[in-house]
Amino acid sequence: MMPPAKRPDDAQNALAGRAGAQAQQSNSDLQLTPSQRAFDHAMMGIALRMARRGLGRTAPNPSVGAVIADEVTGEVISRACTAPTGRPHAEPLAIAAAGERARGKTMYVTLEPCSHHGKTPPCSDAVVNAGLARVVVALTDPDPRVSGRGLNQLRSAGISVTRSVRADEARWLTRGHIVRVTERRPFVQLKMALGADGKVPRGREGAPVFVTGDLARAQGHLMRAEADAILVGHGTLRDDNPDLTCRLPGLAERSPVRVVLASNLHGLLESRIVESARVVPVHVMTAAAVDPIAKAQLQDAGVIVHDVRTVAHRIWLPALLERLAEIGMTRLLVEGGTSVWRAFAHHGLFDEVILFQARPVSGRGQVEPLSAVDAAADMQREAGLTGLQLAARRTLGPDDMLVFRKALSHNPSTSNAIDKE
Ligand SMILES: NC(=O)c1ccc[n+]([C@@H]2O[C@H](COP(=O)([O-])OP(=O)(O)OC[C@H]3O[C@@H](n4cnc5c(N)ncnc54)[C@H](OP(=O)(O)O)[C@@H]3O)[C@@H](O)[C@H]2O)c1
Repeated sequence: MMPPAKRPDDAQNALAGRAGAQAQQSNSDLQLTPSQRAFDHAMMGIALRMARRGLGRTAPNPSVGAVIADEVTGEVISRACTAPTGRPHAEPLAIAAAGERARGKTMYVTLEPCSHHGKTPPCSDAVVNAGLARVVVALTDPDPRVSGRGLNQLRSAGISVTRSVRADEARWLTRGHIVRVTERRPFVQLKMALGADGKVPRGREGAPVFVTGDLARAQGHLMRAEADAILVGHGTLRDDNPDLTCRLPGLAERSPVRVVLASNLHGLLESRIVESARVVPVHVMTAAAVDPIAKAQLQDAGVIVHDVRTVAHRIWLPALLERLAEIGMTRLLVEGGTSVWRAFAHHGLFDEVILFQARPVSGRGQVEPLSAVDAAADMQREAGLTGLQLAARRTLGPDDMLVFRKALSHNPSTSNAIDKE
């Protein structure tokens, strides 16, 4: 890519920004040319892809991507994403990889650098000490410990700041962190596979019935790798006896924590997930008044049993999600079954629905792509889901994958007033 031309007045603006110690509220301290905007867009694209690599590995911290680039030559000097388990953060990793070459250059980062002293020093200090001239961020951090302070610290040190670059994409990528700090719950994805007839296939004799092909199932396993936790209901455990692990070659160690909703503990001890609980953790969310012997047996098998509030003999979903957020989960993949999807739909406690469906055969006998209208009708009938907007679609061999999101009006925390300016 051709680097954008650096104009003398930009350099002056950068110097002026360095001298001005005032925190500003505009999206950019600089007047940017179209080619600079295009370069910012491209570099933030790399940072977003870096951030995606860490999804499912950094909880309770967000997965952040950072790139250090030379705006004059167009060179990408270094890039990084938050390390597994959440530390070190992306910014110090990118700075360490760039070394002295970071001085005077631009950092692109998907989330505002942290400014508070936690287990590690603030990233804003590292950015200042590295001598970076400009920082471009996609999102300000809604965490009350940061919330604009990181950017203000950079400006006070004379670093030019541009924000809200590719903010919408970053908002969805970072949504697990956003809703954990603003709503005390993880980001919730409902994943469902429907047959060509639009119906949920029921598992039989302790094994799932697969209605989609290998590509769709591989995509489902990739979603598991990008989740912190995967959840099913007791009914699915009884009917399918699934493993709920990620079995993609090379990603097996990225299986998320497995969570089961069960008002009683019947049959859990013999399930496949409990057999492997010491390898991939299992959390059972159940009522306080369950059989204490069954509970002790599960705990002996390595299962973590949580007493969660119940209403009408069902686990109360707001309490369940708050518990998951407390134990550090930021991204929850709900794999079913029908009663569980209905419960999440009823409470409106989900952000995204990922639908896999075998292509239907039309009245003329032809296999045709699934229409979004038909898909929405199927999801409403099978799982009580309404108020969804189609966000993306893909063809996966003989199947369609449709991504629906809740309309923004239902979902105020997907928008951040500051980043919308
Ligand atoms: N095609 C797909 O994508 C897909 C994916 C998964 C499952 N499935 C199919 O779905 C079927 C299972 O569906 P299902 O409706 O029978 O069972 P389910 O949704 O898997 O589990 C429901 C059970 O979870 C427990 N539960 C506890 N709190 C709950 C709450 N707040 N809301 C809902 N359930 C709660 C209850 O069991 P207790 O009271 O007994 O504890 C309840 O009976 C299986 O046949 C499976 O093959 C299909």
